[in-house]
Amino acid sequence: MASTLNPFDDAYTEQEIDFYGLIDVKDGKGVQSEDGKVLLLNRRPKHPLFAEYFSYSQRDGSVAVPTLLKKLTEEQVRGTDPRLGASTDDFAPWMSLTWFEMQSHYLPIRKANGRVLAGGLGLGYFALRAAEKESVDSVVVYDNDMHTHNLFAALHSKRDYFDKIELRHGDFLELEGEEFDFCYNDIYPYHACDEMLDDAVALTEKNDFGEYWWWTLESAWASYVHAMAAVGNEQAALDLLCEAMMVDPELVAFLSLFGESSKAADPIQFIPDPDYINRSIRTFLKIRDAEDVEFEPVTLEILGTAICIVGSRASVLNEAGAMNETSFVDEGRV
Ligand SMILES: C[S@@+](CC[C@H](N)C(=O)[O-])C[C@H]1O[C@@H](n2cnc3c(N)ncnc32)[C@H](O)[C@@H]1O
Repeated sequence: MASTLNPFDDAYTEQEIDFYGLIDVKDGKGVQSEDGKVLLLNRRPKHPLFAEYFSYSQRDGSVAVPTLLKKLTEEQVRGTDPRLGASTDDFAPWMSLTWFEMQSHYLPIRKANGRVLAGGLGLGYFALRAAEKESVDSVVVYDNDMHTHNLFAALHSKRDYFDKIELRHGDFLELEGEEFDFCYNDIYPYHACDEMLDDAVALTEKNDFGEYWWWTLESAWASYVHAMAAVGNEQAALDLLCEAMMVDPELVAFLSLFGESSKAADPIQFIPDPDYINRSIRTFLKIRDAEDVEFEPVTLEILGTAICIVGSRASVLNEAGAMNETSFVDEGRV
C-alpha cells in the first residue's frame, strides 16, 4: 500500500526497513547467493551519503539497514576502500537501503502504475514496492548481474505479489521496441551523471513508455529552486515551481514534503553544476513532450552565482559546527 508518511521523517524510514525485511544477523554473516558472489546483511551506516537526500543532515548511524555487498575480486586490494563495510574484508558495499535511497525512490514508487519496467534490480526495493501496489499489474526488472537475481529470488519469492515480478538478465540499455506504462531507470552508481540524460533520450526514442523516470531526476529541480531562493530570486524559484506543477504536480508535492520536514538550519544538498541542472531539466521536458511549456530558466551565469552562494552558506554552517560533512563529493552508492 502506498505510504502516507513523509519520506523525510524517521517513521517512514522505519516503515521501509520493516517492509524490506531485515536479514537475520545473529551470527553477523548475513545471507549469501549460492555461488558466494553477493552478500546481503544489515549494516550500520557511517558514510556521508547516508545523509538525507536533499539535506546535509547526518543521521546517527544507530539504525542497521539492509546492505548488498559484492565479493571483491583478487585484483582488488582488501581494506583500502574507505567505504568498505565493517562486517567483512571479503566484500565491498554495493548498495544499502539508506535514507538517501529510500527518499530518492519515493517518487518513482508513487508513480509506478500498470505495466512497469525497471532498469537495475539491486536490492530489489523498487521492484518489491512497485509490485505490491494494486495499481501495478506487472514489473519487468533488468539486471546484468545474475547473482543479484538469484539472491533476490531466494529471499523474496514467498511474498504474495512476487509473481508480478519478471526478472530479466541482460543490458537494460539495449531494450528496444517495448511498451510500458512506467519506466524507471536506476542502473547508475552515481547521481547527476551525463549518461542518465543521454540514455533517457535514447531509451524513450526506441521504446514506448507512458512515463520515463531516472534515479535522482528530481534533485535537479530541487537544486534549481533552492539556488534561486538562496540568491534572493524567489520569483524565479516560484516560476519554476509553477512550471513544474504543470509538467508534474508530484514533483512539487515531493519538494513540499522536504520543506515541511527539514529544519531551518538544514542547507540543501545541491548539484554543483548549473549547466548540468539546465540540461537535466531540458531533457526531462523533452522526454515528456513538454518542450512547448513556456519555460525560461535564468541564465547559467545567474544560476552559477546562486550555487556559489548556497555553497558559501554551507561552509559557514560547517564552521559553526552545524554539519559534519559538507562537501558534496559524489563517491557513489554504498
Ligand atoms: C543501484 S542498483 C538498483 C537499485 C534498485 N533500484 C533497488 O530498488 O534496489 C543498480 C543495479 O543496476 C545493475 N546494472 C548496472 N548497469 C546495468 C545495465 N546496463 N543493464 C542492466 N542492469 C544494470 C547493477 O548490477 C545493479 O544491481
